[in-house]
Amino acid sequence: MSGAAAAGTQSLRAPPSLAPLPPTAPLVFITGASSGIGQALAGRYRRAGFRLALAARRTDEVSAWARSQGIPADDVGVYAADVTRPEDIMAAGARCIATQGLPDVVVANAGISVGMDTAFAEDIAVMARTFATNNTGMAATFQPFVAPMARRGSGTLVGIGSVAGIRGLPGHGAYCASKAAVIAYCESLRGELRPAGVRVVTLCPGYIDTPLTRENRYGMPFLMQPEDFADQAYRAIDRGVRFRVIPWPMGVVAGVLRLLPRALFDRLLVGRARKHRQGPPAG
Ligand SMILES: NC(=O)c1ccc[n+]([C@@H]2O[C@H](COP(=O)([O-])OP(=O)(O)OC[C@H]3O[C@@H](n4cnc5c(N)ncnc54)[C@H](OP(=O)(O)O)[C@@H]3O)[C@@H](O)[C@H]2O)c1
Repeated sequence: MSGAAAAGTQSLRAPPSLAPLPPTAPLVFITGASSGIGQALAGRYRRAGFRLALAARRTDEVSAWARSQGIPADDVGVYAADVTRPEDIMAAGARCIATQGLPDVVVANAGISVGMDTAFAEDIAVMARTFATNNTGMAATFQPFVAPMARRGSGTLVGIGSVAGIRGLPGHGAYCASKAAVIAYCESLRGELRPAGVRVVTLCPGYIDTPLTRENRYGMPFLMQPEDFADQAYRAIDRGVRFRVIPWPMGVVAGVLRLLPRALFDRLLVGRARKHRQGPPAG
């Protein structure tokens, strides 16, 4: 695809080419950079003067976006990887180190959110795919960077969790379980790497307006634009927070939900719309 064709009409509004960054500029590696939160984070990090290493399956989307932003080709590496294939994303990380250097920040953001109903045999595969993407995919994303960062004595690994990982929601068993696992996994990793000078940051978005939430059939309080999320996420990562819910009002909700007695929590959920399945409707 040509640059102009890829950027489409965006090229008419695209800013002029940005000045190239020096090769010594800091580097961020982001998965899920073809859409939503990952793309917004890439834009935020670029504005902060970072070189970009961007991974996704849809690399055409990533390259077209980078061109539409006027980012010089030398400032961005694009890596094709399916995070459900650990060897894919680990090889992408190794290529990033070999060609662009060891990142300062790695954001394991790629994720999927699909409703499930355990009564349907086919939804067991939904759960497996969700864990392969959101959990094994996250560990495989971090893997190539852990030992080199520990040797260097610096670096930040960022895991994108979710408020959905705080309590289990009906119809959302696969996603909630996967995001609860993200929170626990990142906490384990934090304890392991802190003595080596490597920080682990867990970010839990509330509701962000991306393709992942656009078909939700229930109210999404405090819905936020991805650019606003990225701005707050960038600042939280830069400050090295251990755990942060964004936006903060959702953090208050998450704090209350965490403390709510189970009987009360169950009563609150009665009649709440479920996350929709991808298959035929239940019932
Ligand atoms: N939006 C929200 O309200 C919200 C709330 C809480 C948490 N989150 C979390 O935020 C993260 C980003 O979500 P989003 O809202 O930005 O969703 P999105 O717009 O649907 O983007 C998801 C990204 O993940 C990538 N991805 C999915 N499966 C992949 C795979 N097998 N291999 C490689 N990349 C894969 C996609 O890239 P390709 O398809 O090009 O591979 C895409 O770039 C996810 O972890 C999600 O759970 C989102």
